[in-house]
Amino acid sequence: MSLKSVVSHSKPAFKARKDSDMTLLLGDTVPDFTADTTLGPISFHDWIGEDWAFFFSHPADFTPVCTTEMGRTSQLSAEFTARGVKPIGLSTDTVEEHFKWIEDVNDTQNTTLRFPIVADPDLKIAKLYEMLHPSESETAAVRSVFIIDSDKKLRLTMTYPMSVGRNFDEILRVIDALKTSDANGVALPADWRPGDLAIIPPSVSDDEAKIKFPQGFDTIRSYLRTVDITPSQKDNA
Ligand code: BEZ
Repeated sequence: MSLKSVVSHSKPAFKARKDSDMTLLLGDTVPDFTADTTLGPISFHDWIGEDWAFFFSHPADFTPVCTTEMGRTSQLSAEFTARGVKPIGLSTDTVEEHFKWIEDVNDTQNTTLRFPIVADPDLKIAKLYEMLHPSESETAAVRSVFIIDSDKKLRLTMTYPMSVGRNFDEILRVIDALKTSDANGVALPADWRPGDLAIIPPSVSDDEAKIKFPQGFDTIRSYLRTVDITPSQKDNA
């Protein structure tokens, strides 16, 4: 298929977004809510506070894939803390069911789960965050991920199907990448890991880049410039 056939040149009429068009887009302030959780009632924005949040939904308590994901999040709690990120889960079950399930998670995944799990039996929050995908299920949330910064802005979203557990290496990697990008004014290439070369965004001119990156940079193409930020890297944790 030629590029011409997939890129439309006719301009769509601009449609202003209304509150009722609640599709969450990157950079939006995430909706606030109050809810019961396994650590007591919370007001979401206040609970995030000055940290970042890893908000993730599950189809249901007492299901096998979810049990491994809850266990993995708990096992990685020191990694999330080191990055200034608080995990918080959700499934459309009650706090009482969550408590019973956490015992199973701890037993089977060899962990002690300490982060909150939101109870959402009336689907209020699942609907607010569009975690229900009716072709998958009318009542059970899919595996949504929301990475939210301390300004309560949505920085990343991913949606996994019910049958496939999330990759937690990628969740930690993308948190590292977002924080490195914020702190150093760089972009990060495919499969970037901390310590790898970074990319100077095209919005930064060569003259600006010489001031910003006195260590020097490589110009592979005029639009592809790489820089080693490791000596001066700020991680913004
Ligand atoms: C699970 O978490 O194991 C699961 C949930 C819904 C459908 C399939 C698997």
